[in-house]
Amino acid sequence: MKINRNFDNLVPSYLFAEIAKRTNAYINANPDKKVIKMGIGDVTLPIPRVAVEALKSGADELGVKETFKGYPEYEGYDFAREAVAGYYKNFGVSVDADEVFISDGAKSDTGNIGDIFGADNTVLITDPVYPVYVDSNIMAGRKIIFANGNRENGFCAMPDESVHADIIYLCSPNNPTGAVYSAEQLKTWVDYAIKNDAIILFDSAYEAFITDDSPRSIFAIEGARNCAIEFCSLSKTAGFTGTRCGYTVIPKELERDGHNIHDLWYRRQATKFNGVSYPVQCAAAAVFSDEGLAQIKENLSYYQENARIIASVLDELGIWYTGGKNSPYIWLECPDGMGSWEFFDYLLNNAQVVGTPGEGFGSQGKGYLRLTSFNDRENTIEAVERIKKLLKK
Ligand code: MLT
Repeated sequence: MKINRNFDNLVPSYLFAEIAKRTNAYINANPDKKVIKMGIGDVTLPIPRVAVEALKSGADELGVKETFKGYPEYEGYDFAREAVAGYYKNFGVSVDADEVFISDGAKSDTGNIGDIFGADNTVLITDPVYPVYVDSNIMAGRKIIFANGNRENGFCAMPDESVHADIIYLCSPNNPTGAVYSAEQLKTWVDYAIKNDAIILFDSAYEAFITDDSPRSIFAIEGARNCAIEFCSLSKTAGFTGTRCGYTVIPKELERDGHNIHDLWYRRQATKFNGVSYPVQCAAAAVFSDEGLAQIKENLSYYQENARIIASVLDELGIWYTGGKNSPYIWLECPDGMGSWEFFDYLLNNAQVVGTPGEGFGSQGKGYLRLTSFNDRENTIEAVERIKKLLKK
């Protein structure tokens, strides 16, 4: 018997598991100290009222013989897929309901999509970025190359035309930096993908945080239907981190290597996934109703105000940062030349504030730290006051 030796090439712990481990060790050793978590992007506001009602009535239906439901459709119920297609229409993007796959979140789908691609593809990943893309491709044994994001390019990594890639991961607004690609930059990526016969895997989990006219979907870009798959999630949009629901959009016409990609993904899902529960899909559809959208807007504004509060303290301290405008994340330079993990430990031990070390998102994240605006107002204010006290010269 042999295990998958590609696992030997992973860093020993998944980034957020390592943060939780260090945080819990600190809490156990210092039970009298109040730790404020601004590490993992977990939300604190409840899911919208209209979604709670839909969740309850969906559960009630399961308790009645006439409305009981067993296995859901692999690709999601029609009403949920139509709700997603309707949501896209709100920002001017046309997606057919039958191109939508309802899932249990963007993390699983961005990790699992590799099942339909060969192991010998070259994968291009922007750096820094959400670690799931790198880890899942290491597990599959694929060759990974990086496009670097840095201060000079505003953390919007662009393709090197002289380098070939088959699979390209993009995340905009970017996790962790909050950088958002413009339509022009995305067009460059789409043209590059088409030239290379590649597929872009576009993670738009943070699109709801966009406040300017930056594209909220890769499908807003001409040509994207021939080279892209989009992953999105209700986790950050509507507080579904625990409820679990997301969606993946695959254009019907997307073909590679003599295969239809939509059909391949359906084949994969039908084999390995039994869908999202009926009440959760009811709740997801309710989020995309007019009432639901109004309710999530309030929550998003609350987090945006938290981001503004964090940013204003960093301004006062003269610490370089970016993000926080079209994103719930603030990406800051560690002060006094500290390394990412060094600053993480320093903040935890001296201010009892948990961030996420930038290095965990790739080599370009060295020397940076990410703070989230997802905590509640009181904790956010307390955390930045502590940071101010600690770092003020
Ligand atoms: C993050 O903090 O980067 C995210 O919450 C992780 C995730 O969505 O899985």
